[in-house]
Amino acid sequence: MRSIEVCLAERSYPILVGSGLLAGCEPLRALAAGRQVAIVTDDTVGPLYAGALSAGLGGACATLLTVTLPAGESNKTWDSLNRVFDALLQARFDRGCLIIALGGGVVGDMAGFAAAVYQRGVDFVQVPTTLLAQVDSSVGGKTAINHPAGKNMIGAFHQPRLVLADLDTLRTLPARELSAGLAEVIKHGAIADPVYLDAIDRDMDALRACEQRAMGEAIVRSCQIKADVVARDEREGGVRAILNFGHTFGHAIEAGFGFGQWLHGEAVGAGMVQAADLSCRLGLLARPDAKHLAAIIARAGLPVTAPPWSFERWIELMSVDKKAEQGAPRFVVLEGIGRASLRRVPDAMLRETLAASPDR
Ligand SMILES: NC(=O)c1ccc[n+]([C@@H]2O[C@H](COP(=O)([O-])OP(=O)(O)OC[C@H]3O[C@@H](n4cnc5c(N)ncnc54)[C@H](O)[C@@H]3O)[C@@H](O)[C@H]2O)c1
Ligand SMILES: [Zn+2]
Repeated sequence: MRSIEVCLAERSYPILVGSGLLAGCEPLRALAAGRQVAIVTDDTVGPLYAGALSAGLGGACATLLTVTLPAGESNKTWDSLNRVFDALLQARFDRGCLIIALGGGVVGDMAGFAAAVYQRGVDFVQVPTTLLAQVDSSVGGKTAINHPAGKNMIGAFHQPRLVLADLDTLRTLPARELSAGLAEVIKHGAIADPVYLDAIDRDMDALRACEQRAMGEAIVRSCQIKADVVARDEREGGVRAILNFGHTFGHAIEAGFGFGQWLHGEAVGAGMVQAADLSCRLGLLARPDAKHLAAIIARAGLPVTAPPWSFERWIELMSVDKKAEQGAPRFVVLEGIGRASLRRVPDAMLRETLAASPDR
């Protein structure tokens, strides 16, 4: 088992990465001891792992409740959230209770938001079961639900007390979801660590086969990078924005196709290719480096070609991104592999990127 610390003064917490953690993890048992505990999961993950997690807690808690929500992004709603509150209130959970999020980013974001507001805030633990959640969404304390007007529009910053990434859970993850998670892994290498990006490239086959060594190393390194960025800028006043590399384009692709058509990671894959192209046009990134990055994204099983929409359509889709400021989107660009910054971009250059053919 490896441990990475997210350093946020009194809100600091460890991320534990390893195998067999669900079945028995002392820090989790210690946190749950004597408390009212609710496992929040979805109807795909619950049947697979809620039993092992409950058994792992081994009677340490005073009360143990499982709340199972319908799986999927379309259920990241007030309705689902209310089901959590209903269950907690019915079981008379008080402010000392503990919520455990068992599932992918959807469950993590919802259970985290429930913990942020239930009785003005209670403790929670993330037990992420998708690669995306293990390397990204479970770390950093962003929680949210969707609103018909936009994704993640209702939420709160609320840090977990512990993150437990059990590698064994990834074995049941569909290959397409695994590839989507690799998009965020590649992103971390691209924005922060060229040596790591090389390792990802070298290990790509092992990663796609979910081999323990390669996967364990990638999750640890990705969590270190994310933890470091979050520690420097918890509430995204500045540097945390670099974690959105590829995401301005990616969110536009998700929105343009209708959420759920392309997985988030797939849209981010194609979006990173566009962001790298833009970085080249700005004279910040060498063309061979952008091509190399695109090749790694393709080998992860991700799309590298964005949809052929008109400039006006792209602008319309990008301006609804909540990261846009006064309608003019800013872009995370690479100043070489491993260094990212946030820039406004001349319209003409953006037009070139949006019109560029994939095999330039
Ligand atoms: N909070 C953050 O900082 C942050 C960062 C990135 C993404 N997100 C959010 O994360 C969500 C996406 O997360 P996701 O990609 O994990 O999607 P998800 O939670 O919808 O999981 C994908 C699918 O895989 C299933 N699944 C989960 N674990 C499984 C396993 N081990 N075996 C088999 N099936 C499994 C789920 O039931 C679901 O159907 C989005 O809502 C996004 O907004 C949040
Ligand atoms: Zn993302």
